[in-house]
Amino acid sequence: MGWSTTFPLSLTVVLLLRSPTVFSSSRDDDFTASLYADFLHCLENRTQSSSPDLSQLLYSQSNSSYAAALQSYARNRRFTSSSSVTASSKPLLILAPTHHSHVSAAVLCSRDLGLHLRTRSGGHDYEGVSYASQSNESFIVLDTFNFRSIDVDVAGESAWVESGAILGELYYRISEKSSVLGFPAGICPTVGVGGHFSGGGYGNMIRKFGLSVDHITDARIVDVEGRVLDRASMGEDLFWAIRGGGGASFGVILAYKVNLVSVPSTVTVFRVEKTLEQNATDLVYRWQHVAPATDNGLFMRLLLQPITSRTRKGEKTIRASVLAQFLGDADRLVSIMAGEFPELGLRKEDCMEMSWIESAVWWGFKNRTAREALLDRTPESLNFLKRKSDYVQVPITRPGLESLWAKMIELGKVGLVFNAYGGAMAEVPSSETPFPHRAGNLFKIQYSISWGQESPEMETNYLNQIRSLHSFMTPSVSKDPRRAYLNYRDLDIGVAQNGKDIYGNDSVYGVKYFVGNFERLVGVKTVVDPMNFFRNEQSIPTLPRKPSK
Ligand SMILES: Cc1cc2nc3c(=O)[nH]c(=O)nc-3n(C[C@H](O)[C@H](O)[C@H](O)COP(=O)(O)OP(=O)(O)OC[C@H]3O[C@@H](n4cnc5c(N)ncnc54)[C@H](O)[C@@H]3O)c2cc1C
Ligand SMILES: *[C@@H]1O[C@H](CO)[C@@H](O)[C@H](O)[C@H]1NC(C)=O
Ligand SMILES: *[C@@H]1O[C@H](CO)[C@@H](O)[C@H](O)[C@H]1NC(C)=O
Ligand SMILES: *[C@@H]1O[C@H](CO)[C@@H](O)[C@H](O)[C@H]1NC(C)=O
Ligand SMILES: *[C@@H]1O[C@H](CO)[C@@H](O)[C@H](O)[C@H]1NC(C)=O
Ligand SMILES: *[C@@H]1O[C@H](CO)[C@@H](O)[C@H](O)[C@H]1NC(C)=O
Ligand SMILES: *[C@@H]1O[C@H](CO)[C@@H](O)[C@H](O)[C@H]1NC(C)=O
Repeated sequence: MGWSTTFPLSLTVVLLLRSPTVFSSSRDDDFTASLYADFLHCLENRTQSSSPDLSQLLYSQSNSSYAAALQSYARNRRFTSSSSVTASSKPLLILAPTHHSHVSAAVLCSRDLGLHLRTRSGGHDYEGVSYASQSNESFIVLDTFNFRSIDVDVAGESAWVESGAILGELYYRISEKSSVLGFPAGICPTVGVGGHFSGGGYGNMIRKFGLSVDHITDARIVDVEGRVLDRASMGEDLFWAIRGGGGASFGVILAYKVNLVSVPSTVTVFRVEKTLEQNATDLVYRWQHVAPATDNGLFMRLLLQPITSRTRKGEKTIRASVLAQFLGDADRLVSIMAGEFPELGLRKEDCMEMSWIESAVWWGFKNRTAREALLDRTPESLNFLKRKSDYVQVPITRPGLESLWAKMIELGKVGLVFNAYGGAMAEVPSSETPFPHRAGNLFKIQYSISWGQESPEMETNYLNQIRSLHSFMTPSVSKDPRRAYLNYRDLDIGVAQNGKDIYGNDSVYGVKYFVGNFERLVGVKTVVDPMNFFRNEQSIPTLPRKPSK
């Protein structure tokens, strides 16, 4: 526990003795009340502002609105359900700052009081690490949802975006000012800028423009000393690290400045589905060759799902759905597909032409068409879920696909999403940003399982299913290391304790997420946060300190 040496020893001892996992009843309430008072007092002192305002922004577990505050941006029900939440897995305090000085104060006060701090923006972390802890550490959640301003500069083709903004808001604010500018980021509109940009960020323009991080030109971050830094004052190493290395290891990101990209006035989308009886195997086999190599303006996502066959009673089949976006019109798209991808059978009637902002709504919602839907911070549905990721570098053979179908049907519920790379992704050098999965990666697989009710039995079964499919795929995916996408957080691939994984091995997840960039990230981390204040289950570890004499 090297980090604890920087906290006042007496406070650390008090917190250990009075850890919320080991005491209960009225001592609990005393502890909560005194921690609340101490933290508030510290914030007031450090920001030199008065109590009624700040107390409105700070919640302890005994505030009646604590549960609502915790759940308002928790996007995986597995980490808020009654069976999974323990006293130590949820925050002792939640702070929703309204001013940057509150963030600086919160960092310093957390250190003063021996609390660990987790930052939450959109709360979409698949393992809930922004609001739920697996590490038995007393922590505060710093919730950035009040920081949501978006300043679009049309003439400069750029924007400053605060980290608590959601992607839908960014798209909407750009479209209010221009119909020919857009931004390449994720498909789900409720994802937060803070986690998404700091971890990479890809969406349906990935093949034309690369990742969100490829367009970041400046940032504001609060570091471990409570200083607000921009690109010039943080330096190029830290600025590099927070463009894909995950913000949570380095500080609290307040805002990013991005360059916007040009989008055509007409884009085309389509969804085409085929089952195995309709030769889906031919389609998927061919997709692997076409999707990563076709026109850079075309992004084709492939969804694979086991379903009950409509034509063969009582039998299961696989449904392959291609959802696509083309930065151009339908005639051109149909003609490209007729030449390159006849197995898709794309017809003009399958295509819908629309504006870029309308396409964001088409991708983001099952059942809504008004662009104002993009401003809605409440997701359409809230589920229990688990996700995993892989990268494919060599197309899977037909027999490989056929055995995959059999495995998916046997398991029953896990779905796969193939996201095509190539294009711009193959042109950016893999060390340009911490996100390393560039040239040589044909597509990324997302493993996906979701369910709608709380049931420990279901959870065990579904987690087993998704792990089993991941293990089954070993021969078909990247090796040494087997890669994974940080923003598809998966605690199965290793959990840090003092820079080591749970087996005491050097961080396995670090190499999987960052490949050759991991070492540089560790170096930056060691310089900017040497006592590892900013940490979570999978944060970047610091280099071991030289033994002192
Ligand atoms: C429904 C859904 C759809 C998705 N679709 C896509 C997609 O299309 N493309 C894609 O690339 N990804 C996608 N993702 C993954 C998503 O990009 C990541 O989960 C991302 O990290 C979420 O960011 P957030 O701010 O919403 O999450 P949070 O849970 O708030 O944060 C995630 C991580 O970032 C840290 N963090 C958050 N804010 C800050 C900050 N201001 N400063 C420092 N650290 C911070 C947190 O501590 C945590 O470690 C999707 C996820 C979901 C749930
Ligand atoms: C306020 O903070 C200063 C340091 O910034 C400290 O010296 C002082 O004791 C604090 N006062 C109170 C009342 O906590
Ligand atoms: C939480 O409770 C404290 C003590 O009752 C109160 O002063 C504070 O305003 C409450 N905070 C919020 C955000 O409701
Ligand atoms: C957290 O505490 C629980 C109960 O004391 C224990 O079972 C678990 O192993 C601990 N986890 C870690 C990561 O220390
Ligand atoms: C599937 O492929 C076979 C062989 O190429 C062909 O005869 C058949 O018509 C195709 N079926 C469909 C539904 O396209
Ligand atoms: C779609 O929207 C309509 C009207 O808003 C609603 O009645 C219907 O239930 C919705 N369907 C689904 C599947 O959500
Ligand atoms: C941990 O390291 C040991 C020794 O290098 C190795 O044998 C083992 O497979 C590693 N475990 C994991 C889970 O990586």
